[in-house]
Amino acid sequence: MENRTLNFSIFRYNPATPDIKPRMQDYQLDETPNMTVFIALNRLREEQDPSLIFDFVCRAAICGSCAMLINGRPRLACKTLTIDLPENITLMPLPVFKLVGDLSVDTGVWFRHMGMRTESWIHADQKFNPKAQEERMDNPTALDIYEAERCIECGCCIAACATANIREDFLGAAGINRIARFLIDPRDKRTPSQVFEVVGTDEGVFGCIGLMACDVLCPMEIPLQTQLALVRRKMMGAAIARR
Ligand code: SF4
Ligand code: SF4
Ligand code: FES
Repeated sequence: MENRTLNFSIFRYNPATPDIKPRMQDYQLDETPNMTVFIALNRLREEQDPSLIFDFVCRAAICGSCAMLINGRPRLACKTLTIDLPENITLMPLPVFKLVGDLSVDTGVWFRHMGMRTESWIHADQKFNPKAQEERMDNPTALDIYEAERCIECGCCIAACATANIREDFLGAAGINRIARFLIDPRDKRTPSQVFEVVGTDEGVFGCIGLMACDVLCPMEIPLQTQLALVRRKMMGAAIARR
């Protein structure tokens, strides 16, 4: 591996100190084998600038905390090897979400709000009976639900989405994927017409312009294009049935 010196240009702004205007700050760092952007950021914070703000928890592409714009693309810092990037690396916080400081954004409030809007719980038509036998589910259905549940709520699909960037209340691919998860689940007794009340608007599935940045950039490779198509098909059916 050729020894490279990486030039980082990192967005700096702390809303707690609004007198210091947003700016880009430059840092240099020697690249080491298997370095990720997450490792580089930790070294920068430990060796050069303890005031640098960014998030991480798992370091293994599981928690979704370290998403940021890396050379303009939403990606996970812990999953992005510097060797796959040019020497000049620009880091910005994800757009759409509330800025906490520098590269850290609050995705939690957005996802909690989305969970409430989509009523992300099973709407059963029977009272819970703790003595009842567990109902069986066929494997393909269970696997389809599992596929949708792999979302780590990183926010990359929302940050990449043209509609989410201009329409504050847009559910985005993560929200529509959540709806797909419950439409697939036979235990959820909501009818497509009831789901239409939630997503049959321009803030829901009809606001999607279908350019598929979400599908390309999802670090978990969830088939968002398929999920969007499923929800759109069901909602078109519900719209026709309501006429
Ligand atoms: S396909 Fe739809 S949800 Fe995905 S990024 Fe484009 S507008 Fe957003
Ligand atoms: S759908 Fe993919 S890109 Fe969007 S929040 Fe979930 S894991 Fe992240
Ligand atoms: S630190 Fe958890 S996904 Fe990167």
